Amino acid sequence: MFKPVQASRTTITELMIPSYANFGGKIHGGIILSLMDKIAYACSAKHAGGYCVTVSVDRVDFLEPIEVGELVSLLASVNYVGNSSMVIGIRVEAENVKQGTVRHTNTSYFTMVAKDDQGNPTQVPGLLLESREDVRRYLEAIKRIQLRNRFQTELDDEKSQLNVESELHLLEGKRCRIKTGVFE
Ligand SMILES: CC(C)(COP(=O)(O)OP(=O)(O)OC[C@H]1O[C@@H](n2cnc3c(N)ncnc32)[C@H](O)[C@@H]1OP(=O)(O)O)[C@@H](O)C(=O)NCCC(=O)NCCS
Repeated sequence: MFKPVQASRTTITELMIPSYANFGGKIHGGIILSLMDKIAYACSAKHAGGYCVTVSVDRVDFLEPIEVGELVSLLASVNYVGNSSMVIGIRVEAENVKQGTVRHTNTSYFTMVAKDDQGNPTQVPGLLLESREDVRRYLEAIKRIQLRNRFQTELDDEKSQLNVESELHLLEGKRCRIKTGVFE
C-alpha cells in the first residue's frame, strides 16, 4: 500500500504569547522544539495510521530569534519512509502580521518510528511521490541518511583511536587551559 505525501501534510499555527519568552524577551527554543515534535508526531501518525515515536532529530539550528506576538507556522510532510521509520521535513516560519512579513526561521528533519500495540516497530505504508519536489525530498533524505551513517562510523573510529596525549596540539589557540598536574 502506498499513500501520497499530500495525505499526511500537516500545518500548525500558534501565537507566541509572553509566557513563551525567555529572559531576553525572545521565544524559548524549547517552545519551538515542542511544536516541531508535535507536528512530527501528527504528520507521521497520519501516514502510519497509528502510534509513532520520535527517534532522532537532524538537526535544529536557531538562526533567527522569534518575537512575542508573532505567529509561528510549522509545515510538515513525510519526506521518506523506510520500513518502520519515516523522515518528516518541518519548515518553521514566523509571521509579523503588523509588518506583513514572513520569515523562514528554520528547517529540520525528524525521524519517527511507527509502533504496534505491543510497542514493536511496525511497517508503514510506502510513499507515493506525486511531484518532482516529492522525488527531490525523498532523494535528499537518502543522502542525509548515508551521510549520517558515514559520520557516525568516522566519529566512532575517531573516538576509539583518540590518544589524548598525542592530540594536545588541537588545543592550541583554543580558549582553555589545562590545570597544572593533570598529566603528572
Ligand atoms: C527507535 C526504536 C523503536 C528502535 O528500536 P529497535 O528495536 O532498535 O528497532 P529497529 O532496529 O528495528 O529500528 C527501527 C527503525 O528505527 C530506525 N532507527 C533506529 N535508530 C535510529 C536512529 N538513531 N536514527 C534514525 N533511525 C533510527 C531504524 O533504522 C529502523 O528503521 P526502518 O524500520 O525504517 O528500517 C527504539 O529505540 C525506541 O523505542 N526508542 C524510544 C523512542 C521514544 O520513546 N521516543 C520518545 C522520546 S522521549
